[in-house]
Amino acid sequence: MRILYLNPCGVMGGAETSLVELLASIISTEPEWDLWLVLGENGPLAEKARALGVNVVVERFSPSVGKLGDSGIRFPSALWSLPNAAVGALLYALRLSRLIELIRPDIIHTNGFKMHLLGAWARPRQVPLVWHIHDYVRKRPLMSRLLRLSRKRCSGAIVNSKSVLADLKSLIPELPATTIYNAVDLERFSPQGPTVDLDTLAGLAPAHAKTIRVGLVGTFARWKGHEVFLEALALLTAEVAIRGYIIGGPVYRTSGSQWQLAELQRRASELGLGGRIGFTGFLDDTAAAMRSLDIVAHASTEPEPFGMVIAEGMACGKAVIVSDAGGASELFRGQEDALAHVPGDSQVLAWQIVRLAGDEALRVRLGTNARNRAVELYGRTRLAKELLRVYAQVSGGQKSPGFAAEPRSVSIPGGEGAK
Ligand code: GLC
Repeated sequence: MRILYLNPCGVMGGAETSLVELLASIISTEPEWDLWLVLGENGPLAEKARALGVNVVVERFSPSVGKLGDSGIRFPSALWSLPNAAVGALLYALRLSRLIELIRPDIIHTNGFKMHLLGAWARPRQVPLVWHIHDYVRKRPLMSRLLRLSRKRCSGAIVNSKSVLADLKSLIPELPATTIYNAVDLERFSPQGPTVDLDTLAGLAPAHAKTIRVGLVGTFARWKGHEVFLEALALLTAEVAIRGYIIGGPVYRTSGSQWQLAELQRRASELGLGGRIGFTGFLDDTAAAMRSLDIVAHASTEPEPFGMVIAEGMACGKAVIVSDAGGASELFRGQEDALAHVPGDSQVLAWQIVRLAGDEALRVRLGTNARNRAVELYGRTRLAKELLRVYAQVSGGQKSPGFAAEPRSVSIPGGEGAK
């Protein structure tokens, strides 16, 4: 079986982290399968996929296609940039269809809105296409229209939560779709393993031995709630020994929809946080960073479609505070394996931080239950099983799980980074 994955960006956001886990799950279950990944830009994802043994081809987007999408559209400049981007996208689809002819996949699996469309346009008639949808579609008016228009070229969709499924079904009810929760590397994201010195990484003096460390881990997308987290920390009285950490950085190229570090630092100083907050910057080993915390905070201000950091924090056996909306609400049982707060409500978040900081037994109980639940829900075997079922269905049941294709040689002339 040869599967071709298409992903628009090369940087590691949540959808990319989950794609790496998905590839690892398939490889551990079906080592004979031939996996290919085409990326619209180079980046760490290419390296991570290659390290797993996936054949990676970087077929770069032109700048106009790179910016295409609802968040990139700003009137009136859109009037000029949209036709440009549409031409760029068509040219890219042509290049992609030539690549597909060379790779000759049995199934195409797209992981990101732009690739859902480009894959639909470029796909040969006989090759099934699976859209793996990680975000709410209805939030994006342009993408909603385009996906609806392309729906007949897609065999079925996988979504990352029931909440995203409901959103998709309300837009394209006729598209077969199923929820498959993401997997987490349970060995890497585990209660045991290396830790890091967050204070040194953040350039802070060592904290008092009894200090409780609470961290927000993730990309700097504005809706991830960094400001709410800072405001919650500012509500804590200085007598409580709690130090906050913002772990991550602005990884995307579009600046409007993400925080810049200087903005967050300015906000922290306006709130008078001083040494009570540290910014570590982007850390590759987020598992070690999470293990170095007592509490993992998730503070998204909008419904989170899934929330990789929640699942990862739980897998590390940490007490997690979840912004309780969307798919994130499906990942935990309040008071049992995590605590909740209302999205955007810094007071409730502060209250939950204080509650956990003062109650070690509660942190231990939640952390232990969280690890157990993560093992139950986010394992690779479970993901691979559910995915193979979808692949068997879209390929008409002819290629049942375990099917191994005859080896075929593939060479990509000029394909940058092909392996
Ligand atoms: C997207 C979603 C996020 C999810 C990730 C992986 O980034 O916004 O909630 O965790 O995909 O599915």
